[in-house]
Amino acid sequence: MGRNYFNMESSGIKSMRFKHKRIIVTGASSGIGRAISKRLSVEGAELLVIGRNADQLKNLCEEISTAGGYAKFLVCDLSKEENRKTLCESISEIWHDKIDILINAAGIYSMEAIRNNTPDLWYQLMEINVIAPADLLSKLVLKLAKGAVVVNISSVAGIVATPGSSVYASTKAAILSFTRSAAAELAKRGIRVNAILPGMVKTPMMETMFRFFTKEQQIELEKRHLLGFGTVEDIASAVSFIASHEAKWITGCAFVVDGGLSLS
Ligand SMILES: NC(=O)c1ccc[n+]([C@@H]2O[C@H](COP(=O)([O-])OP(=O)(O)OC[C@H]3O[C@@H](n4cnc5c(N)ncnc54)[C@H](OP(=O)(O)O)[C@@H]3O)[C@@H](O)[C@H]2O)c1
Repeated sequence: MGRNYFNMESSGIKSMRFKHKRIIVTGASSGIGRAISKRLSVEGAELLVIGRNADQLKNLCEEISTAGGYAKFLVCDLSKEENRKTLCESISEIWHDKIDILINAAGIYSMEAIRNNTPDLWYQLMEINVIAPADLLSKLVLKLAKGAVVVNISSVAGIVATPGSSVYASTKAAILSFTRSAAAELAKRGIRVNAILPGMVKTPMMETMFRFFTKEQQIELEKRHLLGFGTVEDIASAVSFIASHEAKWITGCAFVVDGGLSLS
């Protein structure tokens, strides 16, 4: 991704719709979470970016800061409840009681035949893809401002079946279901909760996934995406919309951003 991404004129992004908005992004050290952080920063957000890889997070914050934005990072392995508790305490110390937007993009993938699915694999994926985002919301919900927004990055895998993805797909369906329940429960406080369901997008996760596919299978999979594979910016654009005031009447939504995969 070139530095031009930060140039509002060349990127065509004109809005500062997230000015003064305090936004938390998990999974910000890589791929989709990183692109979301950059995009929202261009649109004026104050960011707390979270991941495990301190160097990558530092590099992201430096890029954002050089481009005139604001971002701080917190390192956290989200797979443990005690770490999530410490993280939320740190967030509260930095931002007291005003969080406007929480974006849960951290996630992990697995590709296994059903005969190889072990309870450990289930626990591992459930912890990061479902329990961590749900637990962060539980721990931060009282700190969310009126009219706050939560965006969970699910996957089209949660609604479209693929052999080998049973564990991953189940976790992505689970976070989608959690999103709907949370939206119903929190609407009375004006808090919107939505899920984005990306199709395949070029990131380190997709590269890992592709190790399981032959060249022919990769081409076939790309064809099933009627508009081809996506980019991280495609997902960041969708998040920018759904998190913004323009989407103020949208909650509990499964926003499919998949280049037409689910139509094929
Ligand atoms: N790429 C796709 O085609 C695609 C399609 C549909 C949905 N998604 C979803 O999009 C989200 C982002 O995926 P991506 O493609 O951007 O993958 P990625 O490049 O591999 O990034 C994954 C992110 O999750 C973080 N993460 C993983 N385990 C963590 C842990 N234990 N604690 C804290 N952070 C952790 C990583 O942080 P560190 O590197 O710092 O550990 C990294 O920032 C995931 O939820 C994924 O399921 C991706």
